[in-house]
Amino acid sequence: MFTAEGLTARRDAEYYDLFTDWRHDIDFYTRIALQHGGPILELGCGTGRITHPIAATGIEIDGIDIAAERLQIARRPHTGARYQASPRFCTADMRRFTLDRTYGLAIFPFRVLQELTTTRDKIDCLQCVHTHLDHDGLVLIDNYCPSISYLATDPARCTTRTEKSGPHGERILRTQHVISRDYANQTQQLQVVYDITHPDGSTEHLVIPYETSYMFRFEVEHLLARCGFTITQLWGGYDFEPFDNNAPGELIVLARRAA
Ligand SMILES: C[S@@+](CC[C@H](N)C(=O)[O-])C[C@H]1O[C@@H](n2cnc3c(N)ncnc32)[C@H](O)[C@@H]1O
Repeated sequence: MFTAEGLTARRDAEYYDLFTDWRHDIDFYTRIALQHGGPILELGCGTGRITHPIAATGIEIDGIDIAAERLQIARRPHTGARYQASPRFCTADMRRFTLDRTYGLAIFPFRVLQELTTTRDKIDCLQCVHTHLDHDGLVLIDNYCPSISYLATDPARCTTRTEKSGPHGERILRTQHVISRDYANQTQQLQVVYDITHPDGSTEHLVIPYETSYMFRFEVEHLLARCGFTITQLWGGYDFEPFDNNAPGELIVLARRAA
């Protein structure tokens, strides 16, 4: 989970969409939304990357996120968007939240459940989602199952660097380091570093430590069963392809709330 505060959190939110060139899941979520209808609850909605395309289909959607700075960006009006109902955003921790309605579908796009690093946190979150679903409501989880070879790679070889121009003419170098892996608890400790050079020559160096977890297929299945869900569909990617031997990678699970 990201734990940035103040200026660091604002910069991170401001640069999220610039550096997240992850667009190939948007059609998948809008198709699922159109197929199942709303209202939809999105957990960890961030800057609204998925919330807004779903709202643009005319389906009602609410998003929650722990990062108020990301929600500030999500709340900005989207040019050209003519929603029947604007998305509602609420700052909340997905492990413990209370909203004033129930939903037909809850979604966790872009591996959001993996932001929680203990089984207790994941159970608390899924139980909370369970109480916010209609009696036959659905939950959709996008989980990344890492390959064994990735887990065996030396963390020092997993650094990625991307450089972009920011909205105010600044140059931004974003470096992501894997600091360590905890194999016993199935977590990774990471760091995002922003090195920013402004047009007037001033610089900023911002460091954001964070931690994520990983689960394999049957852990996801057991977790859902334990939290009162029955799996109805399972895919290996955003083209609705099967999860098979070629697909350690994205595991997408749709499950129905059991009575
Ligand atoms: C990888 S980002 C995904 C954002 C968005 N779903 C997307 O697809 O672009 C993970 C999001 O989960 C949020 N998050 C992490 N821990 C959370 C928690 N305990 N409760 C609510 N949101 C959380 C983060 O603030 C972040 O916006």
